[in-house]
Amino acid sequence: MNAKSVAIVTGASQGIGKATALRLAHDFSALVLAARDEENLAATAAEVRSAGAEATVLAVDLRQPESADIVVNSALQSFGRVDALLHIAGAVSQIDLFDMTDAQWDDGMALKLHGARRLTIRAWGALKVSKGSVVFISGSAALDPKPGFAAVAATNAAIIAIAKAFAEQGIKDGVQVNSVVPGAVMTGRRQSFFEKWAPAHNLSVEEAIKKFPVEAGISRFGRPEEIADLLAYLVSPAAKWLTGASVRMDGGETKGV
Ligand SMILES: NC(=O)c1ccc[n+]([C@@H]2O[C@H](COP(=O)([O-])OP(=O)(O)OC[C@H]3O[C@@H](n4cnc5c(N)ncnc54)[C@H](OP(=O)(O)O)[C@@H]3O)[C@@H](O)[C@H]2O)c1
Repeated sequence: MNAKSVAIVTGASQGIGKATALRLAHDFSALVLAARDEENLAATAAEVRSAGAEATVLAVDLRQPESADIVVNSALQSFGRVDALLHIAGAVSQIDLFDMTDAQWDDGMALKLHGARRLTIRAWGALKVSKGSVVFISGSAALDPKPGFAAVAATNAAIIAIAKAFAEQGIKDGVQVNSVVPGAVMTGRRQSFFEKWAPAHNLSVEEAIKKFPVEAGISRFGRPEEIADLLAYLVSPAAKWLTGASVRMDGGETKGV
């Protein structure tokens, strides 16, 4: 652990974001945890503190433009620096391309793309000072778009692109930027997908969950902790020269090279 190192983790109230916060509690001295659900964030913070790091909690809706200022101001006021920024929050609707409304498109983009874009820009000055790291979370739908989850695919493809654009600037400014492209990870979000998908395919949720890995050509679902370990590596000193990359972790689901 550095003498003082500070990471901001969005989406830290559950799923991959929570697993990431718990993992980073071993590598950073302080974490700033952002999402909307205050109670869940407080539970994450308690576990982070038990692991030995300080934690501050911000119950914010990252779709709102003012949230970027709130998160970065709080990090700087509480801890005086930002060394790593991990964008995990995401809630893009899985609705068919031909049924999805403009409002539903805008909502997904407002959080996952624009929320992360604004937060990165707001934190950039502090990241330049610390020679820090940023990781965006994309998703393997970006590499294999289908009409049933076109917004997820398009948003995740945009995430890879914007991460690359930030990484180019980061080469000049000393800020490392990457994106991670997870495949199917078993979280609350994945479970709700199966709750919708299973009845539409005349399956029970249990049957759908069993069938998915076989059809996807993977041995099993990923665990949030596995993505968390990858994210922790990307913001560690060992990965400093790894920048501008889009790192896929999907159990081999993507069959092309
Ligand atoms: N699970 C997978 O298979 C998978 C695969 C590829 C990519 N991903 C990506 O990984 C990320 C995490 O996914 P997950 O499966 O862990 O999902 P999850 O369990 O549903 O967690 C999503 C997180 O985003 C936060 N969030 C949602 N809306 C928000 C808002 N308006 N403002 C602030 N925070 C908000 C949620 O917290 P609150 O509800 O408390 O706000 C929660 O902490 C997402 O970006 C997802 O697209 C997941």
